[in-house]
Amino acid sequence: MGRIVLVGNGWHPPLFRAEVNALAGHSEILHPRIVSVSQSNKNLENISGAALVDMAIKNTSTIKKYVDISENDIVGSVVSWSDKNLPEGSFSVRARKLGKGVSDLSRRKIETLVGALLVSDENPVDLSNPEHEIIVILGGPEEGSIHTDETVKSEPVIVWGLKDSILTSGSYVGESPTDRPYFKPVTLDPRLARLMISLSQKDKKTTTIIDPFCGTGGIVIEASLLGYNVLASDLDPRMVEGTRKNISHLGLENTKVEVSDAGEIDKIWNKQSSCSFVFDPPYGRSAWKSGEGLDLVISALSAANRICPTATICTMMPTTADVLDGFLSNDQIVMGKRWQEVQDLIREQGWKINLAIPIKVHKSLARIMIVCHPADSR
Ligand SMILES: C[S@@+](CC[C@H](N)C(=O)[O-])C[C@H]1O[C@@H](n2cnc3c(N)ncnc32)[C@H](O)[C@@H]1O
Repeated sequence: MGRIVLVGNGWHPPLFRAEVNALAGHSEILHPRIVSVSQSNKNLENISGAALVDMAIKNTSTIKKYVDISENDIVGSVVSWSDKNLPEGSFSVRARKLGKGVSDLSRRKIETLVGALLVSDENPVDLSNPEHEIIVILGGPEEGSIHTDETVKSEPVIVWGLKDSILTSGSYVGESPTDRPYFKPVTLDPRLARLMISLSQKDKKTTTIIDPFCGTGGIVIEASLLGYNVLASDLDPRMVEGTRKNISHLGLENTKVEVSDAGEIDKIWNKQSSCSFVFDPPYGRSAWKSGEGLDLVISALSAANRICPTATICTMMPTTADVLDGFLSNDQIVMGKRWQEVQDLIREQGWKINLAIPIKVHKSLARIMIVCHPADSR
């Protein structure tokens, strides 16, 4: 089976790779922001809703030896690749730099030269609406990243191929949350909501997403757009009413929204199977300094275990921004307790942490993106 190359968003390369692994099972890393996955129908379907994948490229070819490479070398390679890989029809060429790019190569020169050499009666150039888009990625070292990414060496790499149209990102960037009938400052950014849903996938078995802190419905809306059944609740009846308004405004179905304390959601949802719990708990200053917020999360995790002990969990926990300076140590204070104690408490509820990656919120605040699997699974 062929492979497809995915180019990740520069905001958070480690989370881009974690999202691809959750959706496609396994990936080969070519660069911190470029990975390849097997081109199975299932992978393509899963990746089509990804939050941090900017582009998918098929029929790719790669150069890793970049020392002393010139624009003409790349143009020559792309033109000979096109003999086998560019179908009949109009085309355009787009070169894109990641990070610092590669050896000061000019994108414009590559685009112009490849276009001039490939244009013919079978392959006219069409810059506005081409049938085929040749993409050339000049992947260089990242510059000024806000999130540390030391797990992968940033060797420059040049990849080209045909743009694939599997990505449906338009469905969530189409409407801004401020245009929904019910909006509050707590509303989760749609991209982050979608990322959390992706990260909560394991073996692609989830059919139901449960959000016990639904607020204005940020996660509920993305999950519903992706076709999941959604069970949502919040302690505040105004939020419940607001989420209902938002989902009916978008004409979304398969979604139930009820009033409940997060620690008691098993009373409304009973037993469920094939679930992911995806939630964004309250995180005012009091919640992350006093430890009260943590009690609430732990009670929600306990209820989650009563509903579906084989589920996966994706949530975020606030912490101080110094976590971004290095690795997440067991002494880091997370919602008022040492990270080691937080992990132990989570384990006592039947869950083990599978992934914990910090995200910057602002100068003094960060959040840890956490994925948990059942404690007794491998
Ligand atoms: C950060 S907000 C969630 C925002 C939501 N993801 C959105 O997109 O609007 C946290 C929510 O937790 C709710 N909440 C606070 N305490 C709760 C409790 N004990 N049980 C359930 N929900 C609670 C608040 O009413 C608030 O709506």
